[in-house]
Amino acid sequence: MPRYTSYPTVPHWQADVANDTYRDWLAAVAESDTCSLYFHVPFCSAMCWYCGCHTKIVNRYQPISDYTAVLDQEVALVAGTIPGVPVVNHVHWGGGTPTMLLPEDFSSLMEAARRHFRFAEDAEVAVEIDPRTITKRMASALSKAGVTRASIGAQDFNAHVLKAVNRIQPYEITERAITWLRDAGIRAINIDLMYGLPSQSMDDVIRSVDLAHALAPDRMAVFGYAHVPWKMAHQRMIDEAALPDSLERVTQSDAVASRLTEHDYRQIGLDHFARPNDDLAVAMEHGRLRRNF
Ligand SMILES: C[S@@+](CC[C@H](N)C(=O)[O-])C[C@H]1O[C@@H](n2cnc3c(N)ncnc32)[C@H](O)[C@@H]1O
Repeated sequence: MPRYTSYPTVPHWQADVANDTYRDWLAAVAESDTCSLYFHVPFCSAMCWYCGCHTKIVNRYQPISDYTAVLDQEVALVAGTIPGVPVVNHVHWGGGTPTMLLPEDFSSLMEAARRHFRFAEDAEVAVEIDPRTITKRMASALSKAGVTRASIGAQDFNAHVLKAVNRIQPYEITERAITWLRDAGIRAINIDLMYGLPSQSMDDVIRSVDLAHALAPDRMAVFGYAHVPWKMAHQRMIDEAALPDSLERVTQSDAVASRLTEHDYRQIGLDHFARPNDDLAVAMEHGRLRRNF
């Protein structure tokens, strides 16, 4: 099953949409256009066996530091290719784990982005976070750098499921990260959960949804595990015999949607949920919902 992170989904990407096309598109951006910036940080400190994202495990800072320098150049290159200085109303930091960056490197990249683009006053700046590695200092640096939304990876709150995917993350760790972020002034919180994981039962999924709800996020994403071991070699560590079958996956997905509806979340598309007064839910109600990363 493909992942619907991007549209068109990755299997539909074509090599003939190459650098030249990208440069031409950038050159055609008008000053009156608004734009979103996406920063990808392809590094993590440990491999989660379910991971379908573009990342690499590092235990030294040098590769991250080198990458940060290239990102800095990329900001200038992209901005220099666009004729005017368009307004940025959305920035997303994805990964990997963007909070692997040192606080000073994160801040300096945000400063570079602000130097080269005009940020809307109410620009949303969102960052994907692994609660196991974020520090209180980083939470405060994120807030100072203008981050407004934190997207927290939880996946599941049952020890046996987390063990089956090599992600040991006690509930208190997630709770502590959210407290640090809120205390630092980052109010918009999203929690990522997954269903269809190895040895994950319906009770496990619903328990995770309820525990996530207790942390009062304004949004939740509940992704169906995409098992693509022919693309992601580390997924071969997952015991396929322990994976829920297609029927169980559909049942889990339906149960998640019902439970979150009971908790007063609105379902947005396939796998996102938001509080009724959240921008996403309001946009959906008014037919203004648009796809972004
Ligand atoms: C790009 S990852 C970054 C997560 C962050 N590094 C962390 O450790 O929490 C964002 C989300 O993608 C989802 N994800 C990753 N691999 C997936 C897969 N194979 N199938 C479905 N969702 C997946 C997870 O829910 C994860 O939190």
